Amino acid sequence: MSTALSGLPGHVITAPDSAAVAAQAAKLLGQALRDAIAARGTASLALSGGNTPRPAYELLAAQEGIDWTKVTILWIDERAVAPTHARSNYRLAKESLLDRAPIPPAQVHRMLGDASDLEQAARDYAAVLQQHLVSANGVPVIDVAVLGIGDDGHTASLFPGEASVRVRDRTVLAIAAAPEHDREARLTVSAPVLQTIRTALVLAAGKAKHAPLLRVAAEAGTLEETPSRVLRDAKGSVTWILAV
Ligand code: 6PG
Repeated sequence: MSTALSGLPGHVITAPDSAAVAAQAAKLLGQALRDAIAARGTASLALSGGNTPRPAYELLAAQEGIDWTKVTILWIDERAVAPTHARSNYRLAKESLLDRAPIPPAQVHRMLGDASDLEQAARDYAAVLQQHLVSANGVPVIDVAVLGIGDDGHTASLFPGEASVRVRDRTVLAIAAAPEHDREARLTVSAPVLQTIRTALVLAAGKAKHAPLLRVAAEAGTLEETPSRVLRDAKGSVTWILAV
């Protein structure tokens, strides 16, 4: 790992390849879920989309010793597509985790990216978070979350050049489509929610992630340029599992 990445906030674990990222992530996710259940009787797990998490979710589903009856499943973000669409984060989770682990369906709370009114869907999901999570200073506290980092430095669906990364008075946001980036509209939790996660695992594999990671690790930089820098002010534990 380049020494410059040592500036990343939290713990950094380097892995030889994406399969090793997935294996390490699944191990740490299982441990964090067991710890949350032991400490508070329940655990909330919030999922991101993208390519990297799929094998980690599959390995987590196969892991012994997790009392899934105590786990609530949430999302970090979702694309404005049907839950059956190939780009749906719900579909990713359903195929790799929900259909493989004995998670009670009543404990799975999908972000309604396919809603006709995304602003209303954002308000509705904020209410879901408030209903199912404890809050700290008005911000819902997710126990365990899987995050990623885009080649452009985004995390969740907080993208460069947008004001959304600085919104602090709402917990879930509707993000407009960006046709110039071939990107559909999104729903995403906001920066304060990301910063309040008790145990956040950031998974990154591939050389294209090195540059945005360096921008997170650097002392100087802006949230607008690199939204993943919000994790520099995380109150919980952040662990970067990298094969970059
Ligand atoms: C999404 C994710 C997004 C993802 C990054 C990294 O909906 O796309 O939530 O934030 O974590 O784009 O994705 P990869 O894992 O494909 O690199």
